[in-house]
Amino acid sequence: MMPDRDTLIAVRDLQLSFGPKIIQKNVSFDLKRGSIFAVMGGSGCGKSTLLRSMIGLLRPTAGRIMVGGDDYWAQDDVRRTAINRRYGVLFQSGALWSSMTVGENVALPLEMFTDLKPDAIEQLVRLKLGLVGMEHAIDLFPFEISGGMRKRAGLARAIALEPDILFFDEPSAGLDPITSARLDDLILTLRDGLGATIIIVSHELPSLFTIADDGIFLDAITHQPIAHGSPRDLHDSCTLPEVTAFMHRSASIPSQTEQKAEQHV
Ligand SMILES: Nc1ncnc2c1ncn2[C@@H]1O[C@H](COP(=O)(O)OP(=O)(O)OP(=O)(O)O)[C@@H](O)[C@H]1O
Ligand SMILES: [Mg+2]
Repeated sequence: MMPDRDTLIAVRDLQLSFGPKIIQKNVSFDLKRGSIFAVMGGSGCGKSTLLRSMIGLLRPTAGRIMVGGDDYWAQDDVRRTAINRRYGVLFQSGALWSSMTVGENVALPLEMFTDLKPDAIEQLVRLKLGLVGMEHAIDLFPFEISGGMRKRAGLARAIALEPDILFFDEPSAGLDPITSARLDDLILTLRDGLGATIIIVSHELPSLFTIADDGIFLDAITHQPIAHGSPRDLHDSCTLPEVTAFMHRSASIPSQTEQKAEQHV
């Protein structure tokens, strides 16, 4: 099946392994331009591994990742690096370099990948930090700021090179609900304001319901996707026990369906 014009990345029959151990197989999905796509599933099912294979850190053992018309893993290193220039990544750990200030962290990709003069870089760094409400922290070190601020700084660094595709691995893990909701707003702003396409790994249901419009559910037992759709649709309509266990954990935002379901228990 040919992916349509709105498809930015098409993943086809991907298999991910470590040595003889298959982590996931038969992974296929389309990442639509301008969408926010959720990768869901229990701990250890392979969500981070899938993201790592999409950003060039782990070669799949079968299948393809088509970016535009290009087979990502069939490219040589130079071409793959060129594709990576389009990507912004916020890792699960949110890792900032602890020996550098927030400003220096955000400047790093600009120094590595552009020929911009220091003045221009500083302007861009201020602009990106401003976007995430962190301009005041430009001279602070990571240990001097809170976890939520570190995530936002990581986000500013991820968007430093104006990527059109963003990979976020659990951006709101460990944040309080209000900080997490702010991060959701920020992610929506990146999509709507900058036109970015976003793929996000998250366990946070309120966040997923708010931002994601499509997604995939990876199963840790059969090592393959068992459901496709938006988190909201999976919550409301999917009856697979693995999926309902994941989607119905939170009693904090019961949907109408959930309320009805509870009446029948
Ligand atoms: N470098 C590695 N070598 C061998 N096995 C690995 C490696 N990295 C991850 N794994 C294994 O791959 C599986 C999937 O790991 P992964 O980190 O992708 O899960 P995850 O879905 O992101 O989990 P979590 O929700 O806890 O972040 C796990 O069983 C893990 O032990
Ligand atoms: Mg992970």
